Amino acid sequence: MKYKSIAIDGPSGAGKSTMAKKLAEELGFLYVDTGAIYRTLGLFALNMGADPAAEEEVKPLLPQISIKMAYGEDGLQHMYLGEKDVTLAIRQPEVSTAASKVSAIPAVRAFLLDMQRDMAKTNNVIMDGRDIGTVVLPQADAKIFLDASAEARAQRRYAELLERGVDTDYETVLRDIRERDARDTGRAAAPLRKAEDAVSVDTTNYSLEESFQLLLQTVREQLA
Ligand code: DC
Repeated sequence: MKYKSIAIDGPSGAGKSTMAKKLAEELGFLYVDTGAIYRTLGLFALNMGADPAAEEEVKPLLPQISIKMAYGEDGLQHMYLGEKDVTLAIRQPEVSTAASKVSAIPAVRAFLLDMQRDMAKTNNVIMDGRDIGTVVLPQADAKIFLDASAEARAQRRYAELLERGVDTDYETVLRDIRERDARDTGRAAAPLRKAEDAVSVDTTNYSLEESFQLLLQTVREQLA
């Protein structure tokens, strides 16, 4: 059986995971958050006392790492480091930075590639990340590049962090977003960029519901 795949790429805070989760529910596809996989590897590097930006420190750790991904009874994607469920731990801001740093290392990207592709071999998937349409699933049936201005993304992320009780301010969140954008787009290995055949959707001036409807319509057109 040939499974369908939908690739959603874009910068941090563009709303990829929120949109992809809703789309997955609507279409009955499996949602795969590939950022969570890089985050788990970033957390492992931090736990091992390695500098996440240093290839010579991270590469020798790869044979020791056991990353697993499983879908819980809640239907959510859980990440495991060894036997430990790190689903919540990988959302800490220092892990976001570590993930962005380890993800620039080519050996890390090669190490995680099959794990991502295997999911699409056995499921209809909506996968979000930075290089899904360009590298992981270049043959995806639908491709979206989801974007919004850095200010709009920072505003949304700031509101989300406040709601979760994280003590921060808008300027710090905006600076973090800009730094991550620069790292994710500026790296040599699989940089963030729009696939030629991806459809761009900019949500700067749209509400969540408007963005979702726009995305759903675009994906349905591509799948048809
Ligand atoms: O989507 P996210 O913010 O959870 O991703 C965390 C980091 O992982 C992000 O800064 C870049 C990296 N990443 C990547 O390089 N390629 C992917 N397919 C997904 C994430």
